[in-house]
Amino acid sequence: MDLGLKDRVYIVTGATRGLGNATARALVADGAKVIITGRDEKSVREAADELGPDVVGLAADNADPSVAQRLVESAHEGFGRLDGILISVGGPAPGSAADNTDAQWQSAFESVFLGAVRLARAAAAALGEGGVIGFVLSGSVHEPIAGLTISNGLRPGLAGFAKSLADELGPRGIRVVGVLPSRIDTDRVRELDALSGNAAASRAANEAAIPLRRYGTPEEFGRTAAFLLSPAASYLTGIMVPVDGGSRRGF
Ligand SMILES: NC(=O)c1ccc[n+]([C@@H]2O[C@H](COP(=O)([O-])OP(=O)(O)OC[C@H]3O[C@@H](n4cnc5c(N)ncnc54)[C@H](OP(=O)(O)O)[C@@H]3O)[C@@H](O)[C@H]2O)c1
Repeated sequence: MDLGLKDRVYIVTGATRGLGNATARALVADGAKVIITGRDEKSVREAADELGPDVVGLAADNADPSVAQRLVESAHEGFGRLDGILISVGGPAPGSAADNTDAQWQSAFESVFLGAVRLARAAAAALGEGGVIGFVLSGSVHEPIAGLTISNGLRPGLAGFAKSLADELGPRGIRVVGVLPSRIDTDRVRELDALSGNAAASRAANEAAIPLRRYGTPEEFGRTAAFLLSPAASYLTGIMVPVDGGSRRGF
């Protein structure tokens, strides 16, 4: 199947490593051009070099109110068009309801929530028919994850925002999708497993609860996200797609 990605232009935020990086890689492999971001200038340069000539890297923090417009302009300046955006970002601080501080909630709200809202809004204003806005969210949209209280609080709200946006943008032929990872083997998930003091035991316990009995690979996530962002997924909007090896208990 031809995904129709050739020469299409995407922004992927939070893409110097992990899920964003794997998605940028999958998009480029099928002929797309991509602007990638992360906060650390050196990592951005290295990741863009490694992904090749169809990728431009920009150091940008999703929490910065000026970033959304700057990225949209960079896509037009660098590649002459914009076809879609995938919004990924570093995950919120772990913790319990009792322990998470106001500062942790505020910081996560700025980068994970409001940053995503701003990026989606700026992209929506710039996209034409066939455009797409994707949010990397979490299985916590549907079911709370122990020890990730801030994620449990913010992700369902972002899914609600994505649904509102899908309703508003549908008449213009612009799609909005959410991608819900659960346990994909990235640095973030390894760091979370290490919090228990025994990363291997934590991973084994998590894997035992996944129907496919293993963590997903970033490549498996990247292929799914690239498909959802592609013209091949042209009738999919307003949906939340779990990439979780069957972990979600609901239908
Ligand atoms: N992996 C999973 O299975 C899983 C499951 C559920 C939810 N998620 C969510 O999916 C998202 C991506 O996860 P991941 O595993 O890919 O995480 P990751 O391995 O920590 O990668 C995060 C990427 O985002 C960049 N980043 C962090 N904060 C940023 C900011 N404020 N602005 C712009 N870029 C930023 C990081 O680079 P810099 O640090 O240099 O900025 C890095 O490139 C997270 O929000 C995570 O909570 C992941």
